[in-house]
Amino acid sequence: MTRIHFRTLPQQVPNESSKRVTPKLRFSSMMLLLLAVTVGGCSGDGSTGNPAGENIPGDVNDPGGVNTDPVLNDPDSVTDPVRVDLPPLPDPALTQAPSSDDEPLLEADIYNTATGIPVLQEPGPRLPETDSPALTDADFEAGPLPPQYQIPASVDPDVNSAPYFDNLGDHDVFAGEILEVLFKPLDSDGGLPGMYPEELPEGAVFRDNLNGTKTLVWQPLQRDVGIREFTVVALDPLNSEYRTARTIRIRIELPQDLSTIPNVPPRLEELESYTIRVNDPVVLEIKGIDLNGPYPILEIPELPAGATFNQHLRYEEVYVLKFTPVTVGTLPIEVIARDAVDPSLTATQTVELVIRDAADFVFTGQRLRDLASSRGINIGFASRYEFYHRPDSGLYTDIAAKEFDIVTPENALKMDYINPQPGRYQFAETDNVVAFANANNMRVHGHPLVWHRQLPEWIERSSENTRQGHMQEYVHRILSRYKDSIDIWDVVNEPLSDDGSLRDSVWYQAMGEDYIDIAFHQAKATAPNSIRLLNDYDVAWRGAKSTAFFELVERLQQREVPIDGVGFQLHIWSDFERFDEVHESFQRVADLGLDVYVTELDVSLSSEGDVQRQAEVYRDILRLCLDQPRCKAFQMWGFTDQYSWRRNHAPLILDTAYQAKPAYTALQNELALP
Ligand code: G3I
Repeated sequence: MTRIHFRTLPQQVPNESSKRVTPKLRFSSMMLLLLAVTVGGCSGDGSTGNPAGENIPGDVNDPGGVNTDPVLNDPDSVTDPVRVDLPPLPDPALTQAPSSDDEPLLEADIYNTATGIPVLQEPGPRLPETDSPALTDADFEAGPLPPQYQIPASVDPDVNSAPYFDNLGDHDVFAGEILEVLFKPLDSDGGLPGMYPEELPEGAVFRDNLNGTKTLVWQPLQRDVGIREFTVVALDPLNSEYRTARTIRIRIELPQDLSTIPNVPPRLEELESYTIRVNDPVVLEIKGIDLNGPYPILEIPELPAGATFNQHLRYEEVYVLKFTPVTVGTLPIEVIARDAVDPSLTATQTVELVIRDAADFVFTGQRLRDLASSRGINIGFASRYEFYHRPDSGLYTDIAAKEFDIVTPENALKMDYINPQPGRYQFAETDNVVAFANANNMRVHGHPLVWHRQLPEWIERSSENTRQGHMQEYVHRILSRYKDSIDIWDVVNEPLSDDGSLRDSVWYQAMGEDYIDIAFHQAKATAPNSIRLLNDYDVAWRGAKSTAFFELVERLQQREVPIDGVGFQLHIWSDFERFDEVHESFQRVADLGLDVYVTELDVSLSSEGDVQRQAEVYRDILRLCLDQPRCKAFQMWGFTDQYSWRRNHAPLILDTAYQAKPAYTALQNELALP
């Protein structure tokens, strides 16, 4: 769930009145509420040729906050160069430390494929989707939530009024009714605001009426009973960073006559096609969906030879297909989801498995990790979440082990996963990555410790005066567990917004810039031998963000913050050309006595088929790393286009069939140079 961070500022904010609208026509006028919000957005990636509207690396509706506080944005008011001493850990502890209850267990039903490691699973029952208290009738009766604003420092609300939504309110509906809510963004300065929904309810659509308005169309069903929230954000026509967010509440109740609720057919989660190496064990998890509630029964009428297809032991909506293909060829597998209440209601999908000979996956030349090692750097990738529970796990793990000697868990170490509730920890995924790395003589890059995104709701809800303690306890506990198995850490990730201001994160709101100092000091105190990086995107080439980033690094050094290096994420496009500036940035870090890490490189195709240019960009970035003595690692954000956060832009060095792209060969040739 994306959260909009807000704080109250002394500035006037535009008037916004709203009424509660319900089909039962209960109206009440709303008080004018002054609540200013600072919310950041990710704009472009700064590199050339970034397709319009493509946001990286977060997503446009998962902002981290743009500082609007005049004091915080005044360059003369940044934190003093005086060292920030490490406060003691809270005593007594604010939340329970990891205990034996959090220790992962050996997987109950062996779902893992050819990974060569004893795969672990989380202990105890699966977690609920949210741990926020359910909204009550009293919350609903209190009337619509006030608008929340993002006001960039460059905007004066008295001059440029914020966009707003016309006549928006809350709604009461019965399950089975079709709800339509019109969103009409306006701006008293004229122009047509843009808008986007934060997170659509499952089964809902946000219909574009092609006249500047959009309509939420949703038929809530039994599973939606309760009070649900739905947020839409309007963007100022003159400055898209200037935004107004409105959250409406929809109370869904069961009708007297339950037969009025249509029993909609079940669905299957979208299935990809996969390339499999013959004789590799296949594990395919298939999820059924039924918006009426009871999960559908999944069937495969024609099971492959020797296959089993059973319900997952922990996730009742998931069924697991397991078998080992022994012949090459394309294998279509039809899956049926059958309604648990009315078996005549079904949904069908066919997943295509392309089984290929092992010889198709033998790359010529030397392995990247061996070549890189001879050039004095590590080369690595970000590991896909639960890569060992995938149909192509055998290929994935085999190629990864051969080609790379450093791995970053793409998502396993994010706080919303690893510490989802106060005192509750989920270490299994990270433990599995560490075990895989140890089994293959790989280092592990811990990512991230302190970040503004993927935070658990309990941290988002926490009061500002507790956050320093929570942050220190979190850093201490994660490093206490992994300090002997993970030596490189993104201690603070993405501290800056796109405009170069310090990101208005929950950590910044509580501690100002000092949160960075405290995070690094705590990391060193807990794991003295750790390599501690400050990691960000769009700071490797000239611009406001890069300028601010290096000023921040220098301030940290002046305050004796124990930073060892800088991580340049480098999520770029195939028409990237600013290599000279990257060279300059690498050298600037070296001149500061710090190490350089390429941490998350991927090169999205600016245009279809641009794979040769993509190869040259990979080569040139690698060359810059090899030419910079302080560059220690060249890490990509994945390695096969089958698994990429930007899959649609084919940004990695192997294609979805694990075939080497020109980029793979370009890296191999560059590393092989004397
Ligand atoms: O695991 C849940 C799953 O249970 C749920 O059904 C599904 C649908 O809601 O979401 C799954 O979690 C998703 C997670 O990836 C794992 O797939 C999150 O919604 C999704 O937001 C998350 O996206 C990741 C993103 O960071 C935000 O954490 C991307 O995979 C990951 O590539 C991206 O990586 C970031 C780096 O951490 C920091 N630098 C930028 C980079 C790209 O944005």
